[in-house]
Amino acid sequence: MTYHHTSVMRSEILRYLNCRPGMIVVDGTFGGGGHSAAICSQIQPDGLLIGIDQDKDAIGNAKIKLRPYACDIHLVHDNFANLPNILANLDIAVVDGIVIDLGLSFHHLKYSGRGFSFAGDEPLDMRMDVRTEITAKDIVNKSDFQKLRKIFYDYGEERRASLIARKIIREREESGPIHTNRQLTQIICNVRSSRAYNRKKTWRKTIHPATKVFMALRIAVNQELEKLEIFMSAFYKFLKPKGRLCVISFHSLEDRIVKQYFNRLAQECICPKDFPICVCDQKASVRILTKKVIRPSASEIQANAMARSAKMRVIEKL
Ligand SMILES: C[S@@+](CC[C@H](N)C(=O)[O-])C[C@H]1O[C@@H](n2cnc3c(N)ncnc32)[C@H](O)[C@@H]1O
Repeated sequence: MTYHHTSVMRSEILRYLNCRPGMIVVDGTFGGGGHSAAICSQIQPDGLLIGIDQDKDAIGNAKIKLRPYACDIHLVHDNFANLPNILANLDIAVVDGIVIDLGLSFHHLKYSGRGFSFAGDEPLDMRMDVRTEITAKDIVNKSDFQKLRKIFYDYGEERRASLIARKIIREREESGPIHTNRQLTQIICNVRSSRAYNRKKTWRKTIHPATKVFMALRIAVNQELEKLEIFMSAFYKFLKPKGRLCVISFHSLEDRIVKQYFNRLAQECICPKDFPICVCDQKASVRILTKKVIRPSASEIQANAMARSAKMRVIEKL
């Protein structure tokens, strides 16, 4: 199966990873393999790429995508949160670089048939890894009002979270389970035109009214923030000194987690400000290479709308 995705900030990834022949690099989100292919072109002939993706479609496409490159390649169908086990299984202690490019691919939205987008009529699934148990349909049909409201508000920053959650519960009671992305989209669009909406007029006009709820559900189904936290708390040990981690995120919740971990690792002294001398002995363990977050160029955004909200942060292990 061909896996469609246009990589974001490919040249910036190459520059910041500082790829050279012989390096060992982990691509934790293989996707369409654009970043991996670019990395392989720089680390061959004797480098090693470890390509990880939790979606079997991405891994299925990987061998074809990487056929032209001469370096060693290991492809792993797993979650990057399991990096310690993945590397242990390959008998690798440390690597030169890691990249993770978070979230969805174009393939998920357009071709997966798993209801990630509000277009079309597909089962409400939203799992990137179809081996996991909970689908979006389970969450939408089995959660109570408070849980739905919290998911929409916390993960989607959806200001109409209560209204939408209430409407979903009512729809379930009156018409039975919600099976498809189309049904859910219709319910959300109906909330949009409700009296409460007209009174407050707070919907943003620039995005489809279902965007935030769909994003929130996807984050919940795939436990995206929890997996990112697990990865961020573990990656440091697996980088060589001077090794680098590049993270591309697409929404503020992810970016906040990355920024906080990077700041914590880069922190020098944590003594209270009024202490005359340092007694904590805390030393920075990384250097932040992107004091200002890196964003795609205007021409990249023009060519690829999916790049518009991307932010890249990079650290180097000291
Ligand atoms: C934005 S795409 C990556 C695109 C890729 N960098 C490229 O150049 O084509 C995100 C990919 O990461 C995968 N993914 C997201 N979260 C993941 C996780 N926690 N572990 C493993 N793969 C993940 C998704 O299945 C998807 O294929």
